[in-house]
Amino acid sequence: MCGIIAYKGTRKAADILLDGLKRLEYRGYDSCGMAIISNNRIETKKDVGRIAEVDKKLNFLKMNGNIGVSHTRWSTTGSVTQINSHPHLSCDRKIAVVHNGVIENYTELKKELVKKGHKFTSETDTEVIAHLIEEDSSFERACLKTFKKIQGRNAFVAMNDKGEMVVAKNGSPLVIGIGSNEYFVASDAPAFIKHTRKIIFVEDGELISLGNAKDQEIRFIDTRYSKDLKKRIQEIEWNVEEAQKGKYPHFLIKEIMDQKKTIMAAATQDYDKIEKIADMINESFGSFLIACGTAGHAALASSYFFSKIANKHINHMVASEFQSHYHFLTDKSLVIAISQSGETADVLEAVKKAKTKSAKIVGIVNVPGSSLARQSNYAFMTNAGPEIAVCSTKAYTSQLSVALLLAYAAAGKMDEGVALLKQTANLVDNMLNQDLQNKTKQLAKKLADKDHIYVLGKGFNYPTSLETALKIKEVSYIHAEGFASGELKHGVIALIEKDTPCIVIVANDDTKQDVLTAALEVKSRGGYIIGISPENNEIFDYWLKVPDAGNASPIVNTIPSQLLAYYLSIERGCDPDYCRNLAKAVTVL
Ligand code: G6P
Repeated sequence: MCGIIAYKGTRKAADILLDGLKRLEYRGYDSCGMAIISNNRIETKKDVGRIAEVDKKLNFLKMNGNIGVSHTRWSTTGSVTQINSHPHLSCDRKIAVVHNGVIENYTELKKELVKKGHKFTSETDTEVIAHLIEEDSSFERACLKTFKKIQGRNAFVAMNDKGEMVVAKNGSPLVIGIGSNEYFVASDAPAFIKHTRKIIFVEDGELISLGNAKDQEIRFIDTRYSKDLKKRIQEIEWNVEEAQKGKYPHFLIKEIMDQKKTIMAAATQDYDKIEKIADMINESFGSFLIACGTAGHAALASSYFFSKIANKHINHMVASEFQSHYHFLTDKSLVIAISQSGETADVLEAVKKAKTKSAKIVGIVNVPGSSLARQSNYAFMTNAGPEIAVCSTKAYTSQLSVALLLAYAAAGKMDEGVALLKQTANLVDNMLNQDLQNKTKQLAKKLADKDHIYVLGKGFNYPTSLETALKIKEVSYIHAEGFASGELKHGVIALIEKDTPCIVIVANDDTKQDVLTAALEVKSRGGYIIGISPENNEIFDYWLKVPDAGNASPIVNTIPSQLLAYYLSIERGCDPDYCRNLAKAVTVL
């Protein structure tokens, strides 16, 4: 995954692009670059490294001009080198391209272009776009032909030295911002919401021409039917502050603390719509909850909510495995897809497959206007605001909140569900205090040099154990594994040695005794027991107190581990916002 931001207007493009790149850095950060039209020629600067480092070396703001494209890269095709960084240029250096995605047929295309005499400088698939466009003298027509030729999930922005700019998308996200006499194009709206909140989402198969330098006319073309389109301008509600760190040193801690407000925001839904979906859930047959990563854990937790609260069986599956199971779907099935970004390729692919079986799609999604939000028959927004840190925290607890509400509604107990969530929102607001931060910080100091951390949970909190381990892995790179506590005796216990840290999530429900029994077995083999629980217990060597939130326990029980993961990453000198080798939204299959 990569981040694209382009600008065409009357202001200094480099200012807008550099700021936008920094806001998109979560999408990829191994190299970056910018191309600006200055004195009728394209000037390019690019290199390997984080944006601030590259900027320090190359000084992007020295480039003058009002039209430009830029890119922050997370390499897929071609290693991380200066040459492979975007933008990529045509042979005559009159066309610059930035791209997100994978061009599946690029080797064939490259061979043809080389035969025609094109000189390639990089190992990337992206460069074929610049050379293909160079093949036709009409820029817009060339971009259209190129877009039709490249296969796979791709989005690109191309510009020529005359200031013509074309945007095309198939699979990877792109959004256009409309200012006064200016256009912004980005992979994600927070890159430019500081300048405009008027946006147009680009759909798959669309190509947008932003005209030449003088002509500011915008034109949308549906490439599948070769016809012009009229598109609706939407106003995005997110504000600039929400997408900034504010008083916090990192987005991760800011977003953990945001949960003081986000559970309440998630509980604020169109309740009539919830009732309607609850009826659909009850009438559905052979339904699935699908998602990836952290959202996948929310999907698993949701299957427990539906089972225990609404007595309804809904299968759970990670989206990338769905292709082996979707043949069970019928027009009576419901697919509940959960995604923070709404752009995860595996999720969108699963949704596409489900639609071929006429199943209905319910999306639980955080980014308004995202592909999943648009492709769902019914979309519920989690209302958590922009989540920038690569690992997901506040979006997760919001996904749990919406799913919990749906489960209560399906049980015919909507009011009870709303009351529980509102009470949980207050509990979370209170628990995110200095005391919990100090306790998790102290624990992080103790665990920072460990090689392994294990996590046990059961029932509603089995998914919490998986999510706890994932948070620790993602940001501190300590090996952590979550297990159903009952599985301990079936293998896991072989891993326990003296002082092996084991986090046990002990909810005040019918799983309590089983988890405590497992904890005792670990302790008797010398393990160091960290209890996350409303009550202390003599088995615990370290206790992280959480409030008793009843059926909402997975929401409160996950918060101490988010803090622990954050402080572990600080202790170990990692960057908590930008996890090694990970991207915020994975838009390739
Ligand atoms: C990536 C991110 C994870 C996220 C997963 C699903 O792997 O690094 O944090 O949970 O994608 O993302 P989604 O946007 O679909 O929730």
